[in-house]
Amino acid sequence: MSIEIDILNGDAAWSEVEPLYQAIWPPEVVAKLPWADIVSAHADMRVLLRDDMDDVVCHVGIYRREAKWNGRKVNIGGIGGVLTREDSRRRGYATIALDAAVRTLKDEGSVDLGLLFCEPRHAPFYIARGWTPFEGDIYAEQPGGRIRFTATLPHVFDLRRKLHRGTIDLCGLPW
Ligand SMILES: CC(C)(COP(=O)(O)OP(=O)(O)OC[C@H]1O[C@@H](n2cnc3c(N)ncnc32)[C@H](O)[C@@H]1OP(=O)(O)O)[C@@H](O)C(=O)NCCC(=O)NCCS
Repeated sequence: MSIEIDILNGDAAWSEVEPLYQAIWPPEVVAKLPWADIVSAHADMRVLLRDDMDDVVCHVGIYRREAKWNGRKVNIGGIGGVLTREDSRRRGYATIALDAAVRTLKDEGSVDLGLLFCEPRHAPFYIARGWTPFEGDIYAEQPGGRIRFTATLPHVFDLRRKLHRGTIDLCGLPW
Protein backbone atom coordinates (compact mmCIF):
# COMPACT_ATOMS: atom_id res chain seq x y z
CA MET A 1 0.00 0.00 0.00
CA SER A 2 1.29 3.47 -0.82
CA ILE A 3 0.70 6.53 1.33
CA GLU A 4 0.52 10.11 0.15
CA ILE A 5 1.27 13.05 2.45
CA ASP A 6 -0.31 16.48 1.98
CA ILE A 7 0.12 19.63 4.04
CA LEU A 8 -2.90 21.84 3.49
CA ASN A 9 -4.62 24.98 4.70
CA GLY A 10 -6.53 24.13 7.90
CA ASP A 11 -9.96 25.51 6.99
CA ALA A 12 -9.86 24.34 3.37
CA ALA A 13 -9.01 20.76 4.40
CA TRP A 14 -11.56 20.53 7.23
CA SER A 15 -14.30 18.92 5.12
CA GLU A 16 -11.92 16.09 4.22
CA VAL A 17 -10.90 15.53 7.83
CA GLU A 18 -14.27 15.92 9.51
CA PRO A 19 -15.38 12.27 8.88
CA LEU A 20 -12.22 11.03 10.65
CA TYR A 21 -12.97 13.29 13.64
CA GLN A 22 -16.60 12.09 13.69
CA ALA A 23 -15.55 8.43 13.56
CA ILE A 24 -12.93 8.67 16.32
CA TRP A 25 -14.37 11.42 18.48
CA PRO A 26 -18.19 11.35 18.19
CA PRO A 27 -19.93 13.49 20.86
CA GLU A 28 -20.65 10.51 23.14
CA VAL A 29 -16.94 9.56 23.20
CA VAL A 30 -15.73 13.15 23.65
CA ALA A 31 -18.18 13.54 26.56
CA LYS A 32 -16.09 11.04 28.56
CA LEU A 33 -12.70 12.59 27.75
CA PRO A 34 -10.93 15.00 30.14
CA TRP A 35 -11.09 17.84 27.60
CA ALA A 36 -14.82 17.41 26.85
CA ASP A 37 -15.72 20.92 28.04
CA ILE A 38 -12.77 22.71 26.46
CA VAL A 39 -13.32 25.00 23.48
CA SER A 40 -10.39 24.54 21.11
CA ALA A 41 -8.84 26.56 18.29
CA HIS A 42 -9.07 25.48 14.65
CA ALA A 43 -5.90 24.23 12.96
CA ASP A 44 -4.07 26.67 10.68
CA MET A 45 -2.60 23.82 8.63
CA ARG A 46 -3.24 20.09 8.44
CA VAL A 47 -1.03 17.13 7.61
CA LEU A 48 -3.12 14.46 5.84
CA LEU A 49 -2.05 10.92 5.04
CA ARG A 50 -4.11 9.24 2.34
CA ASP A 51 -4.25 5.60 1.30
CA ASP A 52 -4.51 4.10 -2.20
CA MET A 53 -8.25 4.83 -2.23
CA ASP A 54 -7.49 8.52 -1.51
CA ASP A 55 -9.15 8.19 1.89
CA VAL A 56 -7.68 10.14 4.80
CA VAL A 57 -6.21 7.61 7.23
CA CYS A 58 -4.26 9.98 9.50
CA HIS A 59 -4.37 13.65 10.48
CA VAL A 60 -2.24 16.07 12.46
CA GLY A 61 -3.28 19.71 12.94
CA ILE A 62 -0.73 22.53 13.07
CA TYR A 63 -1.50 25.69 15.06
CA ARG A 64 0.49 28.92 14.98
CA ARG A 65 0.37 31.17 17.99
CA GLU A 66 2.15 34.27 19.19
CA ALA A 67 2.03 33.50 22.90
CA LYS A 68 3.91 34.58 26.04
CA TRP A 69 6.49 32.72 28.07
CA ASN A 70 7.12 34.35 31.47
CA GLY A 71 5.55 37.50 30.04
CA ARG A 72 7.75 37.62 26.91
CA LYS A 73 6.72 37.05 23.33
CA VAL A 74 7.23 33.49 22.11
CA ASN A 75 6.37 31.97 18.77
CA ILE A 76 4.66 28.62 19.30
CA GLY A 77 3.96 25.91 16.75
CA GLY A 78 1.09 23.88 18.16
CA ILE A 79 0.28 20.28 17.29
CA GLY A 80 -3.15 18.77 17.88
CA GLY A 81 -5.82 16.45 16.54
CA VAL A 82 -3.42 13.53 16.10
CA LEU A 83 -5.76 10.90 14.70
CA THR A 84 -5.35 7.62 12.83
CA ARG A 85 -8.32 5.67 11.48
CA GLU A 86 -8.95 2.69 13.72
CA ASP A 87 -8.20 0.06 11.03
CA SER A 88 -4.92 1.76 10.11
CA ARG A 89 -3.21 2.02 13.50
CA ARG A 90 0.22 0.68 14.52
CA ARG A 91 1.66 1.13 11.04
CA GLY A 92 3.62 4.26 11.91
CA TYR A 93 1.17 6.70 10.29
CA ALA A 94 0.85 9.05 13.28
CA THR A 95 4.65 9.01 13.61
CA ILE A 96 5.02 9.98 9.93
CA ALA A 97 2.40 12.74 10.17
CA LEU A 98 3.92 14.09 13.41
CA ASP A 99 7.39 14.15 11.79
CA ALA A 100 5.99 16.03 8.80
CA ALA A 101 4.34 18.57 11.12
CA VAL A 102 7.55 19.11 13.11
CA ARG A 103 9.55 19.43 9.88
CA THR A 104 7.09 22.09 8.70
CA LEU A 105 7.59 24.06 11.91
CA LYS A 106 11.39 23.70 11.68
CA ASP A 107 11.41 24.83 8.05
CA GLU A 108 9.57 28.01 8.98
CA GLY A 109 12.72 28.99 10.91
CA SER A 110 10.90 31.40 13.21
CA VAL A 111 9.12 28.98 15.55
CA ASP A 112 10.59 28.89 19.07
CA LEU A 113 9.01 25.64 20.25
CA GLY A 114 6.43 23.01 19.45
CA LEU A 115 3.65 22.50 21.99
CA LEU A 116 1.04 19.78 22.21
CA PHE A 117 -1.40 18.60 24.84
CA CYS A 118 -2.24 14.96 25.48
CA GLU A 119 -3.91 12.63 27.91
CA PRO A 120 -1.48 10.85 30.29
CA ARG A 121 -2.01 7.53 28.45
CA HIS A 122 -0.51 9.05 25.27
CA ALA A 123 2.47 10.79 26.92
CA PRO A 124 4.91 7.85 26.36
CA PHE A 125 4.10 7.94 22.62
CA TYR A 126 5.17 11.60 22.35
CA ILE A 127 8.13 11.31 24.74
CA ALA A 128 9.47 8.45 22.57
CA ARG A 129 9.28 10.85 19.61
CA GLY A 130 11.37 13.64 21.15
CA TRP A 131 8.74 15.62 23.06
CA THR A 132 9.45 16.73 26.65
CA PRO A 133 6.84 17.17 29.41
CA PHE A 134 6.50 20.90 30.15
CA GLU A 135 6.83 21.37 33.90
CA GLY A 136 5.33 24.84 34.23
CA ASP A 137 1.87 26.38 34.05
CA ILE A 138 -0.27 26.96 30.99
CA TYR A 139 -2.94 29.65 30.74
CA ALA A 140 -5.50 29.84 27.94
CA GLU A 141 -8.64 31.66 26.91
CA GLN A 142 -12.07 30.10 27.11
CA PRO A 143 -15.46 31.69 26.38
CA GLY A 144 -15.85 32.37 30.11
CA GLY A 145 -12.42 34.04 30.42
CA ARG A 146 -8.80 33.15 31.09
CA ILE A 147 -8.15 29.81 32.80
CA ARG A 148 -5.21 27.79 34.04
CA PHE A 149 -5.25 24.95 31.53
CA THR A 150 -4.92 21.57 33.21
CA ALA A 151 -7.26 19.33 31.19
CA THR A 152 -4.40 17.61 29.37
CA LEU A 153 -0.63 17.44 29.73
CA PRO A 154 1.61 19.91 27.87
CA HIS A 155 4.67 18.62 26.00
CA VAL A 156 7.22 20.74 24.20
CA PHE A 157 9.51 20.14 21.24
CA ASP A 158 12.74 22.17 21.23
CA LEU A 159 13.14 24.27 18.10
CA ARG A 160 14.85 27.69 18.45
CA ARG A 161 14.44 27.64 22.24
CA LYS A 162 14.46 25.15 25.08
CA LEU A 163 11.59 26.16 27.38
CA HIS A 164 10.75 23.30 29.74
CA ARG A 165 9.38 25.25 32.71
CA GLY A 166 7.92 28.66 33.53
CA THR A 167 4.52 30.06 32.58
CA ILE A 168 3.10 29.93 29.08
CA ASP A 169 0.11 32.10 28.26
CA LEU A 170 -1.40 30.81 25.03
CA CYS A 171 -3.05 34.24 24.51
CA GLY A 172 -6.00 32.47 22.92
CA LEU A 173 -7.84 29.18 22.79
CA PRO A 174 -5.92 25.94 23.44
CA TRP A 175 -5.66 23.16 20.82
C1 LIG B 1 -2.71 7.70 19.20
C2 LIG B 1 -2.85 7.42 17.72
C3 LIG B 1 -2.92 8.71 16.95
C4 LIG B 1 -1.61 6.61 17.24
O1 LIG B 1 -1.72 6.44 15.84
P1 LIG B 1 -0.89 5.33 15.03
O2 LIG B 1 -0.94 5.70 13.59
O3 LIG B 1 -1.36 3.99 15.42
O4 LIG B 1 0.59 5.60 15.60
P2 LIG B 1 1.93 4.86 15.15
O5 LIG B 1 1.58 3.69 14.29
O6 LIG B 1 2.85 5.87 14.62
O7 LIG B 1 2.48 4.38 16.53
C5 LIG B 1 1.65 3.63 17.40
C6 LIG B 1 2.42 2.45 17.94
O8 LIG B 1 2.55 1.49 16.91
C7 LIG B 1 3.91 1.12 16.81
N1 LIG B 1 4.16 0.82 15.40
C8 LIG B 1 4.43 1.67 14.41
N2 LIG B 1 4.60 0.99 13.24
C9 LIG B 1 4.39 -0.32 13.53
C10 LIG B 1 4.40 -1.48 12.76
N3 LIG B 1 4.65 -1.45 11.45
N4 LIG B 1 4.11 -2.65 13.39
C11 LIG B 1 3.85 -2.70 14.70
N5 LIG B 1 3.84 -1.62 15.48
C12 LIG B 1 4.09 -0.42 14.91
C13 LIG B 1 4.67 2.32 17.26
O9 LIG B 1 5.97 2.00 17.69
C14 LIG B 1 3.80 2.80 18.38
O10 LIG B 1 4.08 2.08 19.56
P3 LIG B 1 4.49 2.90 20.90
O11 LIG B 1 3.29 3.76 21.24
O12 LIG B 1 4.75 1.80 21.85
O13 LIG B 1 5.67 3.74 20.54
C15 LIG B 1 -4.11 6.54 17.44
O14 LIG B 1 -4.13 5.45 18.32
C16 LIG B 1 -5.43 7.30 17.57
O15 LIG B 1 -5.90 7.91 16.60
N6 LIG B 1 -6.04 7.25 18.77
C17 LIG B 1 -7.35 7.92 19.00
C18 LIG B 1 -7.23 9.44 18.97
C19 LIG B 1 -6.27 9.94 20.03
O16 LIG B 1 -6.45 9.66 21.21
N7 LIG B 1 -5.26 10.70 19.59
C20 LIG B 1 -4.24 11.23 20.46
C21 LIG B 1 -4.50 12.63 20.76
S1 LIG B 1 -3.20 13.27 21.80
